[in-house]
Amino acid sequence: MKILLLCTAHNSLSQRLSLTLSETHDVTVEYAISTESTIQAVRLARPHLIICPFLTTLVPKEVYSQYLTLIVHPGPPDDAGPSALDWVLMGDDGTVSNADEIVRDEKWSEDGRSHWGVTVLQAIEEFDAGPVWAFEQFPIDIDDPAVTKSSVYRGTVTRAAVTAVQAAIERIQFAALASVATPTSNGSLPLWDLIGPYLKADSYYRSASVTTQEPFLGGVTRCRPLLKANQRGFDVRRHTARNISRRIRASDSQPGCLSSIFGLNLYLYGGIVEAGEGMATVQAVPGTIIACRDEAVCVATCDGKGIWITHLRRIKRKVDAMLWPKVPAMDLLVELGILDAGKLPRLLAPPPRLFAKASHPTFQDISIEYETLPTQQRISYLSFTFYNGAMSTTQCRRLSSALSSILSTHTESAPLAAVVLGGPSYFSNGVHLNVIEAAADPATESWMNINAINDVVQTLLLDFAVKGITTIAAVRGNAAAGGVALAAACDVVVAGENVVLNPAYRALGLYGSEFHSISYSGRCGDEVARRLLRGMLPISTTEAVKIGLIDAVVSGFGGDLDMAIRAHVRELITSGKRSGEWKDGVDISAAGLSLARASELGEMSKDFWSARSLRYHSRRRDFVRKVKATKTPLRFAAHRRKGEELDEEEEDSFDNIEDFEDRIVNEIKERALRRSLKALGVTETASMTPSRVEVSDKHLGPVFSCYYST
Ligand code: COA
Repeated sequence: MKILLLCTAHNSLSQRLSLTLSETHDVTVEYAISTESTIQAVRLARPHLIICPFLTTLVPKEVYSQYLTLIVHPGPPDDAGPSALDWVLMGDDGTVSNADEIVRDEKWSEDGRSHWGVTVLQAIEEFDAGPVWAFEQFPIDIDDPAVTKSSVYRGTVTRAAVTAVQAAIERIQFAALASVATPTSNGSLPLWDLIGPYLKADSYYRSASVTTQEPFLGGVTRCRPLLKANQRGFDVRRHTARNISRRIRASDSQPGCLSSIFGLNLYLYGGIVEAGEGMATVQAVPGTIIACRDEAVCVATCDGKGIWITHLRRIKRKVDAMLWPKVPAMDLLVELGILDAGKLPRLLAPPPRLFAKASHPTFQDISIEYETLPTQQRISYLSFTFYNGAMSTTQCRRLSSALSSILSTHTESAPLAAVVLGGPSYFSNGVHLNVIEAAADPATESWMNINAINDVVQTLLLDFAVKGITTIAAVRGNAAAGGVALAAACDVVVAGENVVLNPAYRALGLYGSEFHSISYSGRCGDEVARRLLRGMLPISTTEAVKIGLIDAVVSGFGGDLDMAIRAHVRELITSGKRSGEWKDGVDISAAGLSLARASELGEMSKDFWSARSLRYHSRRRDFVRKVKATKTPLRFAAHRRKGEELDEEEEDSFDNIEDFEDRIVNEIKERALRRSLKALGVTETASMTPSRVEVSDKHLGPVFSCYYST
């Protein structure tokens, strides 16, 4: 079947869905940029079915009236509105019908709903109101500190969406088949051609979830409006840490919880409750900063606890052309003069010694555990949970210290058999583009960051190898660019079945480092490695095992996935099986690694400082500041690719410094021409409009502009 995925952005959910559906169908993707481009895409693709996994705009009538169009809504049947997850995570349990009343009178429920769901419904004129083709539900605990809007979206919502879409497709095929049996049908048409908006969804699909066949178990569902950033605010003098945590986590990662707790309006992120004895006894005035740790700040709450704010974003004023980057809280507060840098040492609350796991709820992004097997073999689990999987220079340096700490426990009498890397969420998305974007000198910060992450990878490839310690990457969440290379550098990579990998760097205009030039080739061969880097496509773990990029896939999620990974690691270590065969033909001596590092960094230095840096600096800016895409890349939009036509990033010229020099010269000439024309009073015509590399000003609105217009 030909399926067109219509989405606002090709995000983690649409990528996961696309990879699953591509196993049996012909899938192509279009960004919903405008009504005209959407209608054009449908004409070009001529799909049998359209699916909108992540769409923040209405589907044009010309589309849904002619093609069966399915919307994936992150809520159960009869729930509707653009902030479905925000409402449920804030504590709306459906008992109060009036949404304004809930916000105004704070009628949020005590415990929240027990379940939430995902519905696949047919697009009609009214938003989220069409016939339901499938729904899936899952348990939810809104007070779980690991639950944020984005973690739920990437986790339970994505898995439920895949299940529900697959069920919907089966049911649609069944309905198409059944329609052949009716007297008015055209029995000679292929099954796919019988699919259309006229097919009828059984009413049962609305009342029984796909897996358990039960009705929705999470209470009454409602149509709720957009929950604006300023409707999530809190009063630190009367809201408890638990309550504030909910508000922040329900708004993470977008738009953030708008609050003036630091004196001026800022979007807050994080929201981890501090319940340590030491902190709780601090008799601080609610709202004061009582501690700092690893670039996060802890604010006292009225119930003797604290709340950790890990990141902040300044609000976009009318004079700001774009969104501000979301950055580590402590850094921004110091920059804004809200936190006195001189007072920081007094506020520092170091994490537990030697990265031991804290025994109480607190903010901790790196921890180490040790396990001794019955065979007396020792395994170290190094867990890191960096916000959005981004690894800044300081975070990489802390990770290096953690690795050194692990290495120091490897003694003759207690040798270490293996180190297992990875946290419960994202594995890693490489260098921290937001911190880089916010730096006074982004090129230099990029250089420091890539060197710091390379140090981490080099320690794994050299120091652990020299001591005979097996390195294992446990990839429980998605990974991209340098994050994939970090995993690939390990002897063994084990990944969860739902993980999506984006091994390429070029979309951000980078050559890439992290020793990918040896790990990708060593694992997959030169040809496939080149395809991964040039193709810039997301890949599933099934595909990744096939090509050798990873070694094993384990099923399950959450606690089950963790247990499955640990069981896999134990079996690997006790079996004595050889691992890391990919290194056999690769020079991983100190000299070989230095050569690879120097050659990759040579290219990266061009990305940061040569004329070619134009591609990285502008793409990073657009990525961090959430600039809307202006077209769908051809690598996703197969329906738009004519013959040998390539995306800019697929062309060799994308690497040529000379081409960028020419573009810069042209740009300067064009600007000068414009200035002269303006001085002469000549009006610019279309033929005078320069071909620009940069996004024109009219496209500088953020992807979720509705959130930020407070
Ligand atoms: N640095 C900083 N932030 C990053 C990041 C990075 N390397 N990678 C992802 N993020 C952030 C995004 O800005 C977004 O932030 P927000 O939700 O707080 O606004 C969040 O992580 C989720 O990213 P998003 O793109 O929405 O997630 P996705 O899962 O839908 O998309 C990717 C996945 C891999 C396509 C996309 O995250 C990506 O291209 N990342 C950049 C990878 C990269 O090039 N790294 C640098 C080279 S090493």
